[in-house]
Amino acid sequence: MLSYLVILASQPAPSLQLSRSADAIHCQLPTSHPLCFPRHSPIATSPSLNSFPCHTSEKGVEILLSAARKPFGCHTCKSPLPQVLSLPHIQKTGGVPTACGILLLGKRASDSATPLSTIHYSLSDLECSPMNLANFIEDQREQHLAELCEFLRIPSVSAKSEHKPDIERAASWVSEKLRAAGFKKVEIVPTNMHPLVYAESLEAPGKPTVLFYGHYDVQPAEPLDLWTSPAFEPTVREGNLFGRGTADDKGQVHIHLKALESLQKVNGKFPINVKVLIEGEEEVGSVSLWDYVQKNKDKLKADALVVSDTSMLAKGVPSITYGLRGLNYYQIELTGPARDLHSGVYGGAVPNPLTILTELFSKLHDKNFRITVPGFYDDVAKLGGAERKALNSLPWKKKDFEKAVGAPGYVGEKGFTIVEQLWTRPTLELNGIWGGYIGEGAKTVIPSKAYAKFSTRLVPNQNPQKIAGLVEKHIRKLLPKTVTCKFDLLSSGKPWAAPYQDPIFAKAQAALQKGFGKKAVFIREGGSIPFVTQMYDTFKVPCVLLGFGLPDENAHAPDEHIALENYFGGIKAIANFYSDLGTS
Ligand code: BES
Ligand code: MN
Ligand code: MN
Repeated sequence: MLSYLVILASQPAPSLQLSRSADAIHCQLPTSHPLCFPRHSPIATSPSLNSFPCHTSEKGVEILLSAARKPFGCHTCKSPLPQVLSLPHIQKTGGVPTACGILLLGKRASDSATPLSTIHYSLSDLECSPMNLANFIEDQREQHLAELCEFLRIPSVSAKSEHKPDIERAASWVSEKLRAAGFKKVEIVPTNMHPLVYAESLEAPGKPTVLFYGHYDVQPAEPLDLWTSPAFEPTVREGNLFGRGTADDKGQVHIHLKALESLQKVNGKFPINVKVLIEGEEEVGSVSLWDYVQKNKDKLKADALVVSDTSMLAKGVPSITYGLRGLNYYQIELTGPARDLHSGVYGGAVPNPLTILTELFSKLHDKNFRITVPGFYDDVAKLGGAERKALNSLPWKKKDFEKAVGAPGYVGEKGFTIVEQLWTRPTLELNGIWGGYIGEGAKTVIPSKAYAKFSTRLVPNQNPQKIAGLVEKHIRKLLPKTVTCKFDLLSSGKPWAAPYQDPIFAKAQAALQKGFGKKAVFIREGGSIPFVTQMYDTFKVPCVLLGFGLPDENAHAPDEHIALENYFGGIKAIANFYSDLGTS
């Protein structure tokens, strides 16, 4: 036999002899079986203090317990918890009651005597302290994960027009969840390409305003046959959640949605003013965003930008990123013969654009792996001695890096450590090359055209427009007169690196400590997030990049995943971060 004590926020329950004095709630209830009684404070073992939906039926008040992560309270008899707890003796007296605490008292069927005893709960136990926030988040783990999987099942691939309906679906999914998290103002903003989702809650006068940015779009999942489980069917294996977008960036966006929702549910309000901007074009270069930022400066203004779209240095090393590389993305089209030609009839006397393309790319690096474009390095900021030392003393492991890459050997710009090469040096990479025949069997053809997609990662203080000009000029100079070249700059984003002295960074560090039990390190990274630079340039506000991915989680590749401990730890850390920002 089981009995329960339910503490209702507003209705006293006469049959349970609930009474409230200035500093305590007194409950008279049947004595529990000693073995089954929670070991510590009963409140500490009750799951959360206010999250069980209640309604009234002819049976009395019913409380939906199926939302609870696991049965609580009875450590010994392991009695299962019912889906719905009916409390026939409690009548609703007006308004929907809120069950603010549930205590499970296991009683064996053989126990007969039920003497009454009194338990005193300190009122402060029932208030929403950080402890209760932690409990609440802990209790929601399964729901959080299930909801994230729902998000991940939407194949919101921004690069492909066939996924336009999925993009729309993802945008409205995000807007719904923002509403559920407690945002009253939520907008889906159409753009020339994919919609932005914007939300705000400015109901904390005197408190700081934070803009949280993330993206709901994902990279294409191809090559599909290299996924162990399908890209859009999220699957847990060995403590990791696999699926496209798990780490980049749906999993990390969801961390913030759930942290905010938890704060709202536990405290009835957000601790700070929050603006949220979740875009759907990040993976294709945030093309529509610049325009939106320029037209909505007042709307987006905030005391700080918060982003989770980066990585931790390594497992167990929470990290704050203060520098990103910029990115120019290019495409070229070489045309030789006016049409495809029979390679036997014409071969030997005509230019082959594919051969010329490969020759071109073989000339863009020298033997020290430096880029040969004249002027390319002219504006590259030299790393200061102190920063150089700090970055090279981070707990970064070459072994982990090599394991993640898995190449037979390594190359990099001579004179720089790998960390410096990855975070502080510019690069030029060939991303795709095509043309001619690539189908089954053989086709003897000299193609008319050859194509390449390539990109340059940029570092402070390189100017993307200037670099694009230099690259185009050099390429045109290298190409023979036997082909023509169409040169396109598809997207462009500036590099970013900023000081991290503002007090908000210490708060971020403290919050990460709460979520992960370890001190966070400050890192730079090699990836690019165009919005961060745009915000920094426009408002010069601190940009706090708290990443919960890991470098070996296969972002942009098959078997992308996120470590569940980082997803759950992230929710805890971010909830603490927002909460601390409200108490300065
Ligand atoms: N989340 C990444 C950026 C990132 C990755 C930052 C790793 C730090 C570490 C983002 O979604 C991304 O992939 N950005 C693109 C930029 C873009 C303009 C397409 C990138 O870096 O290639
Ligand atoms: Mn991302
Ligand atoms: Mn990405």
